[in-house]
Amino acid sequence: MQLVAVKDETPQKVFDLWPLLKQEAAVQVAGVVAESAQGQHLVELQLTDIQLLGASEQYPITPKEHGVDFLLGNRHLWLRSKRQVSIFKIRDQVIRSIQDFFGETGFVKMDSPVLTTAVGEDPQGLFKVKYYDLGDAYLAQTGQLYLEASIFAHGRTFCFGPTFRAEKSKTRRHLSEFWMLEAEMAFFNNQDSMDLQEDLIHHILRGVLDHSSFHLDQLGRDPDPLKKSLEPFVRIEYDDAVKLLLELGESIELGDDLGAPHETVLGNHFGKPVFIMNYPEAIKAFYMKRHPEVAGRVLCSDLIAPEGHGEIIGGSQREEDLDILTRRLEEQGLPVENYQWYLDLRRYGSVEHSGFGIGLERLVSWICGIHHIREAIPFPRMMERLLP
Ligand code: 4AD
Ligand code: MG
Repeated sequence: MQLVAVKDETPQKVFDLWPLLKQEAAVQVAGVVAESAQGQHLVELQLTDIQLLGASEQYPITPKEHGVDFLLGNRHLWLRSKRQVSIFKIRDQVIRSIQDFFGETGFVKMDSPVLTTAVGEDPQGLFKVKYYDLGDAYLAQTGQLYLEASIFAHGRTFCFGPTFRAEKSKTRRHLSEFWMLEAEMAFFNNQDSMDLQEDLIHHILRGVLDHSSFHLDQLGRDPDPLKKSLEPFVRIEYDDAVKLLLELGESIELGDDLGAPHETVLGNHFGKPVFIMNYPEAIKAFYMKRHPEVAGRVLCSDLIAPEGHGEIIGGSQREEDLDILTRRLEEQGLPVENYQWYLDLRRYGSVEHSGFGIGLERLVSWICGIHHIREAIPFPRMMERLLP
């Protein structure tokens, strides 16, 4: 809101204080709300009194251009900037939509531990901590294995918390600490899970378009790609995605994982989110169920966002067979003794089940149109950054 002081009308003490009112000083003001003469604001406050609550001298962030390293070093202050305010208002709306969605569709929130002995995803990307006399613990890469335990009590469950990956690569899509929303559903195959993911993303997009259009506008975010993403998503097999990439002039071979540039090409080609289904077993986690008809493929899907934002969801149907699962653990060199509790879930009344995980910051980056994921989390943790 614009505050107005008028010579000979506004009390002199307001003018006396004026030189002390530096950028980001905290003040308490009193005045009369009036229609604004300049069209930019609807109303203004004509000052009758002002008090300085907290002085501010030489605030480091000025309206001039700062380098991103400087801004990240001052993240605790940078959060006050208009653009950052809008990003976190939208992030908050996204979280609210997620919680509403799960509340309305019969899910129970079952929080998973951060300290764990199970490698969830990638043995190369673990953060280790000393755990009393019990040896090493890891910071969780996923809550999935624990969610799988909880569905046998509740049917459908979700968890939402920080997850950790020691990512040595410096990319614009990777954080060392990020928030993941994970859901797990009993009696769901991966197709059912993809339907649910699509409903969820649609619900989130509608929530943002309905409640956060002001902030999208502040960010200069064109809402049209988000509106287009309210249409049904594209679904293609991994093998067909590779063929399509070759047709589009990319270099890739059957069996390769999709890299960020491939995901960007596919996202741009379709202009809305696309599920890539049934990747090769060799490039996916041990717990994914093998495709019953196609050798060497697993029942899984990655959801790729358009506009170069890459994979925002990873999901799969889970292997129920005790022997296959044990073999997969061994093949991947994982310590089977630490997974006995997980294998119990296959020993005592297992059923078909599936689940997925959404990287919150990747989703927020796409929705906000942010180039680098570090702006989508209040205090980013990356290889070269632990402060503030
Ligand atoms: O594909 P991921 O590794 O899947 C899992 O962790 C499964 N256990 C989830 C499940 O089925 N319950 O990770 C899921 C998502 C990715 O699609 C991506 O959006 C995000 O988490 N993600 C990251 N986000 C930021 N920085 C990183 N280093 C990320 N790694 C994964
Ligand atoms: Mg993944």
